[in-house]
Amino acid sequence: MKNIVVLISGSGSNMAAIVRRAQSERWSERLGVRVAAVISNKADAKGLVFAQENGIATAVLDHKAYPSREAFDAALMQEIDRHAPALVVLAGFMRILTPGFVAHYAGRLLNIHPSLLPAFPGLHTHERAIEAGCKFAGATVHEVTAELDHGPILAQAVVPVLPDDTPDVLAARVLTQEHRIYPQAVADFLQRQG
Ligand code: GAR
Repeated sequence: MKNIVVLISGSGSNMAAIVRRAQSERWSERLGVRVAAVISNKADAKGLVFAQENGIATAVLDHKAYPSREAFDAALMQEIDRHAPALVVLAGFMRILTPGFVAHYAGRLLNIHPSLLPAFPGLHTHERAIEAGCKFAGATVHEVTAELDHGPILAQAVVPVLPDDTPDVLAARVLTQEHRIYPQAVADFLQRQG
């Protein structure tokens, strides 16, 4: 059985969408894949409860307990590697990763970013899209490489930016699409991996 490890920092709705899709499409039988663990850098991440309720192992590593980014990433790698993952999925994991971490998971590390990359890497994507007068916004699933929010694009979804949109309203519209494209991109990626 191939293992997926999902990293979250907050509500974990993308993680939940992937778990639900794995359940409804019987990934373990069809693809030989399961979500083995959900790891958060925040103890109060809501997604941890969903994972536990769905029988998935969880772990919390508080980045504030480590003296450096390198030390945190080393501990995180150790925790992830207990599950020997075929794929590591970043799902709202709000940490900048060290080059060593990215290199260790090269070719098996995916992220979803709430913009139409390469536009608006980084934070506050919806606010920036509205301020720039964009007529469309969206989300991007990409392979993670050393440069933040870059890397080969695997899937995108486009939504309109409407005249009265606030960042929160636009974020909700984009998030609905994230829940559609991320599980699909994960399944496609694993099928290509064979
Ligand atoms: C999602 O919109 C995701 O694209 C974004 O955080 C949200 C997490 O929601 N990720 C980033 O901004 C990464 N730079 P979720 O916890 O409900 O999946």
